[in-house]
Amino acid sequence: MDKPLFLRTLAGQASPTPPLWMMRQAGRYLPEYREVRAKAGGFLDLCYNPALATEVTLQPIRRFGFDAAILFSDILVIPHALGQKVWFAEGEGPKLEPITGEADLVRIDEALSLERLAPVFEALERIRAALPAETALIGFCGAPWTVASYMIAGKGTPDQAPARLTAYRDPAFLDRLIDLLVESSIAYLCRQVEAGAQVLQIFESFASALPPGLIERLSFAPLRCIVAGVKARHPHVPVILFARGAGPRLEALAATSGAEGIGLDWSVDPAWAAATLDRKAILQGNLDPLALIAGGKALEDGVAAIRAAMGDRPYIFNLGHGIQPQTPVAHVERLVALVRS
Ligand code: CP3
Repeated sequence: MDKPLFLRTLAGQASPTPPLWMMRQAGRYLPEYREVRAKAGGFLDLCYNPALATEVTLQPIRRFGFDAAILFSDILVIPHALGQKVWFAEGEGPKLEPITGEADLVRIDEALSLERLAPVFEALERIRAALPAETALIGFCGAPWTVASYMIAGKGTPDQAPARLTAYRDPAFLDRLIDLLVESSIAYLCRQVEAGAQVLQIFESFASALPPGLIERLSFAPLRCIVAGVKARHPHVPVILFARGAGPRLEALAATSGAEGIGLDWSVDPAWAAATLDRKAILQGNLDPLALIAGGKALEDGVAAIRAAMGDRPYIFNLGHGIQPQTPVAHVERLVALVRS
């Protein structure tokens, strides 16, 4: 059996049409997701129900035949498994009981308990068993800075101001939190591989918030540590880093991270990325999710621009951020046809 196209591409092989998946591909734009979500109870109940998490992970694969499935879960299961209170208020996004300084660290554990995440690993085993051989399975976690910004603020915040202020006022506390998240992420990702994940993606959704004096310490160095820690145990598992808003700083990340894949958000010019980023990096991206909502010419032009920019460079087709709930399913079908034509 040949390696899946997705893994061949991450190994550096070009192909006539690129592998394709979409960030947040299991989600509210799918009627069958909304149906399962309604009967699961809360969002976290869905994440921790192996049968239902398996079902929603497989839904977009059945419909669109994407080249990769991504585990259905969330980046906030790590703070939750560390003992922080996490909940999803309907229509408001995630909420956490804030951890704002050293004194609050008593409210969370000193190390991640993988036991609490057992349903996630069971879901991965079930998903791998159910997937066609040609479909790769992606495991993931959030990057330490992105996860820490939620842990500190207790919710999503504009430009992550509470966590950024903490970086200046209380660097020792933030470094301790980041170190805890680095160690937790390595353990969590390795266990995901052992349960069936063949590729790992790390979501640094808030790289844009970090000024030049902080991005190396709070984002790139922790990411490099996680990649090295995972590779020490699983040297052959490819890793993709998605650092949203890193802009031209992606050049430094791609050259030094040790990861195989570099995700591009929709603000990055793919022609710049293809010409500038380390030739060894496999690029992934980066259609604007709003071009997918609009469809028609916006969608066609967006896909064509990415294909032209990548030229003969092996790459993975994706959106430049997660698919949005109001996206018409017919536009996703059109995207698949365009990318594979
Ligand atoms: O890509 C996938 O399909 C896998 C599943 C996945 C989810 N969240 C499911 C989800 C992944 C990879 C994530 C990552 C995640 N979660 C990130 C990083 C990626 C990014 O978007 O930048 C972040 C920042 C989070 C935190 C989070 N989880 C937020 C801000 C929200 C609310 C946003 C919203 O759209 O309501 C969530 C909830 C969430 N995670 C949903 C899904 C499908 C929607 C919840 C629902 O069904 O009610």
